[in-house]
Amino acid sequence: MDIEILSRALTTLPSDDDHPYRTGPWRPQHVERAAVDLDVIGEIPADLDGVYLRNTENPVHPAMEIYHPFDGDGMVHAVGFRDGKAFYRNRFIRTDGFVAEQEAGHALWAGLAEDPGRSPRQTGWGARGRMKDASSTDVVLHNGVALTSFYQCGDLYRLSPTTLETLGKATWNGKFPSDVGVSAHPKYDERTGELMFFNYSTEAPYMHYGVVDSNDNLVTYIDVPLPGPRLPHDMAFTENYAILNDLPLFWAPEALAKGKYASRFHPDIPTRLAVIPRHGTTADIKWFEADPTYVLHWTNAYEEGDEIVLEGFFQTNPVPPSGGGTLYQRMFRFLDSNQLGTHLHRWRLNLTTGLCKEERLTEVTSEFGMINQRYAGRRHRYSYAATSPAGWFLFDGLVKHDSLTGSAERYEFGEGVFGSETAMAPRIGSTAEDDGYLVTITSDMNRDLSECLIFQANDVSAGPLARIRLPERVSSGTHSTWAPGSLISGWDDPTTALGS
Ligand SMILES: [Fe+2]
Repeated sequence: MDIEILSRALTTLPSDDDHPYRTGPWRPQHVERAAVDLDVIGEIPADLDGVYLRNTENPVHPAMEIYHPFDGDGMVHAVGFRDGKAFYRNRFIRTDGFVAEQEAGHALWAGLAEDPGRSPRQTGWGARGRMKDASSTDVVLHNGVALTSFYQCGDLYRLSPTTLETLGKATWNGKFPSDVGVSAHPKYDERTGELMFFNYSTEAPYMHYGVVDSNDNLVTYIDVPLPGPRLPHDMAFTENYAILNDLPLFWAPEALAKGKYASRFHPDIPTRLAVIPRHGTTADIKWFEADPTYVLHWTNAYEEGDEIVLEGFFQTNPVPPSGGGTLYQRMFRFLDSNQLGTHLHRWRLNLTTGLCKEERLTEVTSEFGMINQRYAGRRHRYSYAATSPAGWFLFDGLVKHDSLTGSAERYEFGEGVFGSETAMAPRIGSTAEDDGYLVTITSDMNRDLSECLIFQANDVSAGPLARIRLPERVSSGTHSTWAPGSLISGWDDPTTALGS
């Protein structure tokens, strides 16, 4: 393995740190590296061509008071593949907030579990304002460039998918909605080149929806009026429609009036799902009612006759019972998919009758589901999700859900080994939905190292066909994406593709 150190970030984290999400599998990186000639056990398939990108909440400073795992600065890890070889890079996203806190040498903004009224900097980003836009939640590809995003809304940072250099912010030719920002989980339609997105805030109309075309022009941007401030996290789309949501878990209005941000679940208020023609207007929005729940992530949606079929992870207990324990155990129970009771679920929204039918698709608890992105918006069969150990925001296994049969094929990483959101990479010449590979990064606490694992998507339980050693053990993270080489700007230049 040939490793080059690119830079080192200033960190003021204590050497005896004991925060559960800054130690162990969540121990952050502060050195940026590039590596080629990586050691491989097995063989990297020659028809795996592109880059696996994974975003990470990677803190450099202690919080003002209480660190929440969603507060860390965005760092992207990339493992690229071409001609049976792999390269690796990790880089911080040079957000305005990261740069300012590197200069200041301490936190300038309150985190999720803190009072934004006490932020040293009283200007900032996010749906509730006065937060740092860490751009640490999600990463997608659009127009050949990686876009990172933040769950509370903010800028979209543009990164080279191969070098991970921060190229600036998305401007959309001057039309980027900087007043509200854009939420995590914008959706890329590979077939049209369009990017669909939403944002939300505490100001009426509380949500907007938009579409950016393949020339980076904002071609649709509409109000989605809601009854009040909401906390949507994800959206879905079909060939002709976008699907947004108004879920009954939101900031308690009476607390909000006093400047406090306390999430409450309202089991007496239905889930509402909005269906909007992709380039429709506010007047075109159709709302459907469903059983109360919270859904963090959808896997896909598609059209079938008069129906929009939507799949995602229904939460049985959006507010798990406290059960006592330490402050951290009480705080972080909302991150444990076992306590939330997340199950793959299907909603059928009938555009003729206006009614919604729903059904649970499996008894397996999982979340963070990915599909073959070529099937996004079209009828899919398979999703690849993560299972979690009790009490933790960690991924201890991989499960392939078959929405047609309801079966679930599983692979466990092993005691003390944690994976990432696992992306599906169609192989070159792919002819079937699961004709390709699954790619993930592990944090192995037993051997104190990280590997990139490659599975055959049509034989998950067989285990990885290749293990690629990374330069150091990297922190667990959140969302990932597969950037096919054919869609990456400059991929045809082999020096770029090798991360040089
Ligand atoms: Fe998410």
